[in-house]
Amino acid sequence: MKFPVGFKWGSATSAHQIEGNNYNDWSEWEKARPEEFRSGKACDSYNRYEEDFDIAKKLNQNIHRFSIEWSRIEPKEGRFDHEAMHHYVNVVKALRERGIEPMVTLWHFTNPVWFAEKGGFLKDRVGLWITFNEATTTVASNSYLKGIWPPEKRNIFDALKFRRNIIKAHTLAYQEIKNIYNVPQSLQGPALGTSHNVEVGISEFNFHFVAGKMFGWTSKMLNNLTNNYAWNNTMSYCDFLALQYYTIFRLPGSFSGLPKQLVMEEMGWEIYPKGIYHRLMELKKLKKPIFVTENGIADGKDKLREKFIKEHLRWVWQAIRDGADVRGYMYWSLLDNFEWARGYGPRFGLVEVDFKTFERKIRPSALEYAKICRENKL
Ligand code: BGC
Repeated sequence: MKFPVGFKWGSATSAHQIEGNNYNDWSEWEKARPEEFRSGKACDSYNRYEEDFDIAKKLNQNIHRFSIEWSRIEPKEGRFDHEAMHHYVNVVKALRERGIEPMVTLWHFTNPVWFAEKGGFLKDRVGLWITFNEATTTVASNSYLKGIWPPEKRNIFDALKFRRNIIKAHTLAYQEIKNIYNVPQSLQGPALGTSHNVEVGISEFNFHFVAGKMFGWTSKMLNNLTNNYAWNNTMSYCDFLALQYYTIFRLPGSFSGLPKQLVMEEMGWEIYPKGIYHRLMELKKLKKPIFVTENGIADGKDKLREKFIKEHLRWVWQAIRDGADVRGYMYWSLLDNFEWARGYGPRFGLVEVDFKTFERKIRPSALEYAKICRENKL
């Protein structure tokens, strides 16, 4: 199974999950939690990024998605920390020096404390930008509806308002960056997308039954209200679509034709590789280039990771064959890291991290993925 010439292979991370010693709304929130659920020094990647990128290079990766920690570059409102900004310039340089294309996320879940209390600035070296990571899906739900993430709200109106404001902020950021660089919509020059975590659950249903049809419609409607909301509302302000796919969602009370799948034990998520195909085919209709910006498994024992990656890639390949314009795939994550409210339990890394010594160890599955990256085929 050959992938298109020029297909990008890589992995993804986010600042708060790997950098260590951040001061933001999450680190404040973590203070009240048991120690094992605090991010602390994380992977110490703020200091060790070069070592990490050496590993990525060794693993034949040629694209890498990371995020900029806003609280570092603007620690007080309106006061920018030039050293921190320079740090990220160096991060980009370090990637480029290793022949790895940077994809930069402007916002991956964390806020400076001053901003939270109130209610990107690299130059020409970055071509691919993600404005918001899973804000309109994961964060709207976990932070404003379920109340399990800071600021622990449980209010549908807050959730809706949050989503609307994120869309506005994305649109403004998009226009601002496009104006600065004076480039049209395309993947040439700064290209922007927003990334969304999506779940599927409709596809394997037996549609001959009336109940099946109703289940299909309900899922579609829910998809439009949740997963697709941001895409539908930002289509003129996106150069590419960023898909993050992990699991499926079953409508409570529904009976689905899909038998129970394997479960990713460290997260309790059902594994359903074909789901990525369905989502890519749905995104194909939006007629934009697509990157898979996250897909991965928490599997400290590294028992299922190789299979997980290969099976998902098999369906990505199929989607490309069936016309989806997929340009690259980034495994989540390069390193084991701080898994938000779940602390350091779940281990998504291609590379195992010892959180006491910060030693990095490449897992066997990473070498298998490295072969795929090198050969551009499964
Ligand atoms: C997030 C990552 C997270 C991963 C696994 C994604 O929703 O963007 O930050 O670690 O899922 O839960």
